[in-house]
Formats: sequence, C-alpha cells, structure tokens
Amino acid sequence: MNKPEKQRHDKYIPPEGKLPKAISVVKHLLSFRYSLFLMLLAAGLWTATALPDKPQWDADTPLYQVLRYLGEKQAEHELPLRPAWVQKGYEIVHFGRTTDFEGHRTSYVSKYYVCTTCHNVEREDPDLRVSDPEARLSYVKEKGIPFLQGTTFRGIVNRESWYNDDYIKKYGPEIIGNAQHSLRSAIQLCAVQCSQGRPMKRWEVNAVLSYFWSLQWKLGDLGLSANDYKKLNAAGEDEAERASLRAWLKTFYLQKSPAHFFDAPADKRKGYPGLKGRASVGKDLYELSCLHCHKPGGVSHYILDHSKLSLRHLKQKITKDSHMSLYQIIPYGTYAIPGHRPYMPHYPLERMSKQQVEDLRAYVESF
Ligand code: HEC
Ligand code: HEC
Repeated sequence: MNKPEKQRHDKYIPPEGKLPKAISVVKHLLSFRYSLFLMLLAAGLWTATALPDKPQWDADTPLYQVLRYLGEKQAEHELPLRPAWVQKGYEIVHFGRTTDFEGHRTSYVSKYYVCTTCHNVEREDPDLRVSDPEARLSYVKEKGIPFLQGTTFRGIVNRESWYNDDYIKKYGPEIIGNAQHSLRSAIQLCAVQCSQGRPMKRWEVNAVLSYFWSLQWKLGDLGLSANDYKKLNAAGEDEAERASLRAWLKTFYLQKSPAHFFDAPADKRKGYPGLKGRASVGKDLYELSCLHCHKPGGVSHYILDHSKLSLRHLKQKITKDSHMSLYQIIPYGTYAIPGHRPYMPHYPLERMSKQQVEDLRAYVESF
C-alpha cells in the first residue's frame, strides 16, 4: 500500500525551503495510526455499500444470494464466479475439453460424449415446482432444445441432492457414493460412469462447477408476484421470520430432480393399460429426443431418420422380447461394457412418461 504512494512523492519536486514540511506531511500520511484510520474508513464505506440495511431484491438477484441473506447455510459447492473459470467449464461441458492454466490443451473427458449429449443447459420446465415430462416436451420444443435423459444444468447449483430416488436405490451406495450429497462428486461420477470417461482433475471439476454457478436460478425465474417481492424485501432481523421466508421461497422450485424407474408393460402388444398414443406428440419425441443421438453423425452407430426403413425397423421390434423394443430401450437403456463403448441411458418416469412411450409407439406404427 505504501509503495505507490512513495513513488508518486518521489516524482514530486518540492519548491525550495518547503522540503522539511512536505516530508513531515508525507510521514504523517503514512503513519500507522493514520493509515489504520483510512482503512477503517474504507472498510466502513465498503460494508455500507455491500450490505444495505434493507436489501432491494429484484428479478436479477441470484436466488442463492437471497437465501444466504436469510440465513441459509453455505453450500458445500459454493465458489466465487471467476470468468476465466466459467469459460473453461463451459468448454468442458460443451466441447469435452479445454486448456489448462499453462495454455496446454487437455485430453477429452470422454471419447464418446460431451456433457450436452445428455444434459441441457437451458431451463427446460415451465413450472419449476414440478418435474413433468409432458409439460417439458412442449416447452423444449418451443425453445428448440432437445428432450433428454439427464436433467438440465440450469439451476443445478440450487439443488440440494443429486442422483435421487431410484438412482441410489438401484445402483446402491457403492456406485453412487457421495454423489447424492455432493455436487462435486456428482460431476465426477457422471464423467466416469455416465460419460464412460476419465476422472476429471480437481481444477476441471471446479471449472465445471464455476460454469454451473453461472447457470444458477435468479429470483426472476421463480415467477414471483409483485407482492412476493414486497414480502421478501421487507425481511427483518427476526430469525424465525427469516426461516419461514426461506421455506416459503423453496416452495417455488424443486430442490432435487426426482427420478423413478419403470418397467416394460406386462403385455407388449397391449402396451401400458388405459393409455392411448398420440402420433403427433410421438413425432416430437422422436425428433427432439431419439434423433438427438441417433441422427447421422450423432453419438450412436445405430442411425435413425425419417425414412420408412428406419421407422419400420423400430416398429417391427415393439412387441418383441428384445432390447430393441421401445418398451425395453426406454425404461432400461443399454449397458456399457465398462470403459469401452457408448451406451444409451434409460429414461426415468420424470424424463419420459408411459403416456409418452405410447405416443412414440403411435408415431412409429403410423409408418
Ligand atoms: C450419456 C449421457 C450422459 C453424459 C454424456 C453425461 N451425463 Fe450427467 N447424467 C446423466 C444421467 C442419465 C443422469 C441422471 C440424473 C439426472 O440428471 O436426472 C446424470 C446426472 C448428472 C448429474 C446429477 C444431476 C442431478 O440433479 O441429479 C450431474 C452433476 C452430471 N450428470 C454432470 C455431468 C457432467 C459434468 C457431464 C460431462 C462431463 C455429464 N454429466 C455427462 C447422463 C449423462
Ligand atoms: C443421449 C443419447 C441417446 C438418446 C437420446 C437416445 N439414444 Fe438410443 N442409443 C444411444 C446409444 C449411445 C446407443 C448404443 C448403441 C451404439 O453403440 O450406438 C443406443 C442404442 C439404441 C438402440 C439399440 C441399438 C442396437 O443396435 O443395439 C435402440 C433401439 C435405440 N437406441 C433407440 C432409441 C430411441 C427410440 C430413442 C428415443 C426414445 C433413443 N434411442 C434415444 C444413445 C441415445
């Protein structure tokens, strides 16, 4: 702190005779007590601007910031938003690799996929309080983004658990490990298990996490009314009141992405009882989901398009006892030989409903 001051004074040539006084003023300015006073003054000004008595929150305020102000405990995955890190995380997620801090290209995390093969980075649910694949389908169609097995990274830092419900039940604690309670571990698990890739280095995980923070929810995403903003902005000091405001804010969005697995119908000819397929919805599913990976040049060698040939091939298999049947491939996916080939992740119910499986069947059978 002292150095630049001194240099500036060195350049200053005082008029003759005034030298001793000037020096004593400088000495005084630099004296310990005086600089302590300046520091305290600066700190006072800083806190005055950083923590206003009455926070004024609006649609642009990050949700996490508001929750923290209301006394929410710090998330284990909290990170400062540093643009250089966000950029590296962005590159890993979208292109599969980045450059390290010495400027060297890293190797690909996965030979087969990038994260966006299976995850969106946009909002994909019109109502953040429910995970409803039917509402999601129309919503993503309108936005022109795909309909995928993995949950979007948008708002992922605002979740409180990952790989939920049947993922932990069916894969067991050995595979899921810490990933249910730690976003860092969830990222690592997906790099190795879902992507069939290499473990990411610590800094790479932090880069991805930084990018995730740039995708956090803001108050504007929650659909609050003008009155809701008033209520929030009137938040006082009372701990019980703050706790109830926190709980209330959390009713506007899900704190986890639910995942329940399902089975093929008992009789494939009859399909899921009581549901009638809608071919036009099935067409959307085919285009926004299946073709995302199965179009020519996609991640799968099994090519699908709009030709009668590929649709009839799918159609023939529907009622068969085969992994190629829609009734098998959707709820069970395919398995990877560890580390050796791409596989197809299955769809939990929250990512494709039984009604939607029937819709897809109706579309495929219309050929
Ligand atoms: C082949 C498909 C696939 C690829 C590639 C993939 N994931 Fe996933 N990922 C999934 C599936 C399926 C889940 C299951 C849970 C969910 O998202 O609903 C998941 C879950 C996650 C979760 C936990 C989400 C939650 O809320 O439960 C994180 C974090 C994650 N993946 C990070 C990544 C990252 C980072 C990459 C890239 C390095 C990646 N994934 C690549 C399929 C994939
Ligand atoms: C996230 C990418 C992805 C999505 C989305 C996806 N698949 Fe797949 N699918 C794969 C991969 C990878 C394989 C493994 C086969 C391979 O190596 O190419 C596969 C395999 C299959 C197979 C078995 C092929 C074989 O030769 O064994 C069928 C059938 C299939 N998918 C149908 C579908 C249908 C129908 C949809 C839409 C509901 C769909 N897939 C959505 C990636 C995907």
